[in-house]
Amino acid sequence: MRAVTHVALCMLCGLLGYQIRQVSTMRKGGCRIPRSWLWFGNWSTQEPPSKLPRRTDAKSFLRPVASAEVSHQLPKLFHCDPLEHVIAINLEDDRGLGRRGHMIEEFKRVGIKNYNFFPAVDFKNDAQLKREEALLGGDMCKNPARCHNTLGCAMSHRRVYEKILAERWPCAMIFEDDAGLADNFSARVAEMASGGMPPFDIVLMGWCWSAKSKITPPDDMKSTPELRIGWPGMCIHAYIMSIHGALMFAQANTPIRITPDAVMDGSHHHLNRTRTHISRAGGQYTGSYWYTEPRLSWQDANADLLGGGV
Ligand SMILES: *[C@@H]1O[C@H](CO)[C@@H](O)[C@H](O)[C@H]1NC(C)=O
Ligand SMILES: *[C@@H]1O[C@H](CO)[C@@H](O)[C@H](O)[C@H]1NC(C)=O
Ligand SMILES: *[C@@H]1O[C@H](CO)[C@@H](O)[C@H](O)[C@H]1NC(C)=O
Repeated sequence: MRAVTHVALCMLCGLLGYQIRQVSTMRKGGCRIPRSWLWFGNWSTQEPPSKLPRRTDAKSFLRPVASAEVSHQLPKLFHCDPLEHVIAINLEDDRGLGRRGHMIEEFKRVGIKNYNFFPAVDFKNDAQLKREEALLGGDMCKNPARCHNTLGCAMSHRRVYEKILAERWPCAMIFEDDAGLADNFSARVAEMASGGMPPFDIVLMGWCWSAKSKITPPDDMKSTPELRIGWPGMCIHAYIMSIHGALMFAQANTPIRITPDAVMDGSHHHLNRTRTHISRAGGQYTGSYWYTEPRLSWQDANADLLGGGV
C-alpha cells in the first residue's frame, strides 16, 4: 500500500512539473524551449520587427505521410548527404507567409537552392494531435494553451521524421522557419560532410545554452565546422536527422508528450521512453548526438515577430 501511495505521489509531482513547464512555454509562436529547461537567460529581450520580405514564390510543400503507414525498416547502408533533403517547417497557409519569406531569403543568401517546405501542424485543427493529447490524461491538455505550441511543434517535427522513414531518406536537414543561417552555410556544410558523415542519430547545428545564445549568431562565420560528439544543449531549430535518429525520435514521442528537443534529454524527461537509446547519466553520452562547432544557426528574433509561429 505504501509503495502504491509513493508511486502515485511521484506521478503527481511529475505531472505538476510537466504542467509548470507547459505553462512557461506560452509565447507568441515558434517552437519554444520551456523557460525552466534553460540554465539562465532573459526571455523578455526582443528586438523590434524589421522589414522582412514577404514573398510568395515558395517551393512546393512536401506531403506528410500517415503515422500508421510508416515503415520501420532501416536501410543496410548509410550514406548521408546533408544537403540532399533540406526541409523548413512552416505553416502552409497565409499565416506562414512571413516566415516563409524569411527562409527563402536565408536559403538564397547562404547558397541552398534545393529545399522544400513541410506543413507545420496547426495545433488548433490537427485531429491526430488532439487524439494523442487526449491520451496524456489528466488536465494537461484541457487548457489548450498548455499544450498548443509545445506539442504541436513536437508533432511537426515528428511528421518530418515519419516522412524520412516513409521515403527511406538516409538523412535530412531540418529547420524551423525562424532560423538564421551562418554565412556560406551551404559550402561549409558540404566541406564538413565531404569526408563522409559518422553514424549519427542527430547533428545539432543551432544548439543553445542560454536565452541569449539562442538568438545570437556565432562569432565564427568562416571555418569549416567540426563534427563533435556529445550534447551541447537545447534548441532544435536547425539539425541533421539520420533515418536511425528519425526512428528513435518518432518512437520516443509517439504518442506525443514532450517537446522535440526534450526527446534528447536523457537525464530529466521520460527516461523510460528514451533511455534505451540515450543516457547522459554520469556525464556519459550513449546516444549518438553530435553537434557542429562552430554553430551554424540561431533563432532569428526578427523572424520570430513575423507571426505564424508553430
Ligand atoms: C530582461 O530584459 C529586460 C529588457 O531588456 C529588462 O527590462 C529586464 O530587467 C531583464 N531581466 C533580467 C532578469 O535581466
Ligand atoms: C565558403 O566555404 C568554402 C568551404 O569551406 C570555402 O572554400 C570558401 O572560401 C568559402 N567562401 C567564402 C566567401 O567564405
Ligand atoms: C513510463 O513512465 C511514465 C511516467 O513517467 C508511466 O506513466 C509509464 O507507464 C511508463 N511506461 C513504461 C513502459 O514503463
